[in-house]
Amino acid sequence: MSALDPRLAREFGLAGRVAVVTGAASGIGRACAVVLAEAGAQVVLADIDRAGLAETAALIGAAATVQPTDMARRDEIAALAAGALGVHGRLDIWVNCAAILVRKPIVEAGEADIDRVIAVNLKGVYAGCAEAAKAMRATGAGAIVNISSAGGESSPPGLSIYAMTKAGVNAITRSAAREFGAWGIRVNGVAPGWVDTPLGTGGFRDASGALDPTSYAAGLKARAAASPLGITGEPRDIALAVLYLASDAARFVTGQLLRPNGGIAMP
Ligand SMILES: NC(=O)c1ccc[n+]([C@@H]2O[C@H](COP(=O)([O-])OP(=O)(O)OC[C@H]3O[C@@H](n4cnc5c(N)ncnc54)[C@H](O)[C@@H]3O)[C@@H](O)[C@H]2O)c1
Repeated sequence: MSALDPRLAREFGLAGRVAVVTGAASGIGRACAVVLAEAGAQVVLADIDRAGLAETAALIGAAATVQPTDMARRDEIAALAAGALGVHGRLDIWVNCAAILVRKPIVEAGEADIDRVIAVNLKGVYAGCAEAAKAMRATGAGAIVNISSAGGESSPPGLSIYAMTKAGVNAITRSAAREFGAWGIRVNGVAPGWVDTPLGTGGFRDASGALDPTSYAAGLKARAAASPLGITGEPRDIALAVLYLASDAARFVTGQLLRPNGGIAMP
């Protein structure tokens, strides 16, 4: 078997690049950080969960640094970009992955629920795009990847707040792609289908957070059955899509939404 062609390794590789990943303490964000580091990038891990950040950093080793960051706070997001520049002297990639989800019917959701989710999922991504672009535009190149969701297009019942924020993320992605293109910065979205993570399994947990094995097994089966491939996703499936969009292999790609979802939706 022949090795990966050096040209392909250059196009898909991230040697010498610096990447910020938000939501890096768990699930898809953790997988993104690991995969970007495997591709050769130095990664700056951001999240509010310090213990989870330390676990991700331990998985990656020397290529990782940690900057605890609340993506609901603009000052901390600006400090995250400044911190990456301060440590590494450059910023090439920014993955907006942190998000939260509230499961409530529209008639039961309150102002506090709406504000809490918008603060992280929508304002956090908006600020992440802005601070990343300010840090990247000096170098005349960069890639921003916003993690959206299949729910942003399918709007499932009980997930209205989450879905509207993800639809907003798709809008931010397009606006930013148009505004930042002249600076050589590409902006794309990734809209995963269901993935087995703490956020994904939230619907199968009781009030204490314990997983109900029966509803988990049934939920997994139903989600797999909705896919023409008969499978559900793993965090790494999403991280590999992010790697493509972050790499030079995607130099002609901006303002797009990539949908690693097992084929559950084909808009
Ligand atoms: N799991 C799925 O089925 C699925 C499907 C579609 C899209 N997504 C998206 O993938 C992304 C990652 O989700 P996941 O499934 O890995 O969930 P997860 O719960 O495993 O990870 C989310 C991370 O975001 C962090 N976070 C929450 N609030 C934060 C804040 N204010 N500041 C900084 N970090 C914060 C959490 O601490 C956690 O580490 C999210 O954008 C989510 O909407 C997930």
